[in-house]
Amino acid sequence: MLKQPSKHYYFQKIDQTQIPKRDYTLKKMQVPTVFDLKSIVRESVRNSSGYNVSHFIRAWSNRDLLRMMSNENPLPPSKAVIDAMASEIDVTNLYPAPPSGLCERFAKHVKMKPENIAVCAGSMEVIDVLIRTFTEPGQEVIIHSPTFSAYEKFANLHGAKLTSVKMSPPEFEYPFEAMEKRITDKTKIVFVCTPNNPTGNYCEREDIERLARNNVIVAVDEAYAEYIDQNMTGLISSYPNIVFIRTLSKAWGLAGLRIGYLIADEQVIDYFSRVAQPFHITMPIQRAVEAAFDDVQYLPKRVEANRAGVDYIRKELATIPGVETFPSSGNFVLINAGDTGHDTQDIIEKLLDLGIFARDMSSHRLGGAYFRITVSSPDNNQRFIEAMKHILKP
Ligand SMILES: Cc1ncc(COP(=O)(O)O)c(C=O)c1O
Repeated sequence: MLKQPSKHYYFQKIDQTQIPKRDYTLKKMQVPTVFDLKSIVRESVRNSSGYNVSHFIRAWSNRDLLRMMSNENPLPPSKAVIDAMASEIDVTNLYPAPPSGLCERFAKHVKMKPENIAVCAGSMEVIDVLIRTFTEPGQEVIIHSPTFSAYEKFANLHGAKLTSVKMSPPEFEYPFEAMEKRITDKTKIVFVCTPNNPTGNYCEREDIERLARNNVIVAVDEAYAEYIDQNMTGLISSYPNIVFIRTLSKAWGLAGLRIGYLIADEQVIDYFSRVAQPFHITMPIQRAVEAAFDDVQYLPKRVEANRAGVDYIRKELATIPGVETFPSSGNFVLINAGDTGHDTQDIIEKLLDLGIFARDMSSHRLGGAYFRITVSSPDNNQRFIEAMKHILKP
């Protein structure tokens, strides 16, 4: 017996019995031949390489590797967080509620009102949405460099023109004066990362205020602010063009939940929320984050452990000839091993051979042999130090 004709468009028009199974010759001939993907894709997307996730692929493909490459928190989530997440798994057939519980908790944490908060799936998304909210293709975004790579990635992707102002070793002073001079009528956003990834230094509120006297959005990425208990949100009442970006991926130890948030003037939040996705903070994640914020002991303990880790790593590395480190207010240490005669790639590969994944910083073109290590547990920090002493022994 003949099979019933398929309802699919192609097969309604032709006699299926004439087509050997899996021979798509006829179908192919019906596809329009003028299609040229390259001419249709946006130019900025065509020229972009996308966000580089190769280090995550490498780390996830070998779970025994000690992850000291992405400034994650070494501790797994608490039982309360896991239980809270599990308690809402059975509603995943439904669209989630707006994350108002999170807005309340985040607002309290940074001494603002819930109306001043917009929640996203990670602070990378906050950066992406900010650029899409405020810049048209061809308009300008200013950053200092080196810094977190996402500002440049997303600016390029959305066709904005990027101006990057250099910070130089060993102080890596923020180049605020030079950044301000580069502001033009076309500049829409100036990004400032404080504490800065990867240099570890931080800036003061007067620096932010000074930039905010211009007709631009000053986007202050405070991914590591909890480590120094810095809160500059009070500036928003005088300067509604200042916005702050926070994340739960660092001190809060919840990178896998993908939660970041914007703190801003209500009108800014309104525009921003028109661009952001509406349903991407799921109920299990909302509950998990609420449980994390209910644990008031967690943050001070983490911050103290991190500080001890930074001090230990810097003190031990100072005993290795030719190794230079920089003061850090984050959960990472920037290292320059240029004077040891090794290059960055060599050190990164040798650390990998010993099961430790550090982050190559040579793309920042600082000269020397720069890489970054994430502060981990005391045992892991010690393992890293022993590995460094082994690799660099005379
Ligand atoms: C300065 C800075 N901002 C944002 C992020 C991204 O964090 P999230 O996990 O919230 O997307 C990072 C991650 O390393 C970072 O260093």
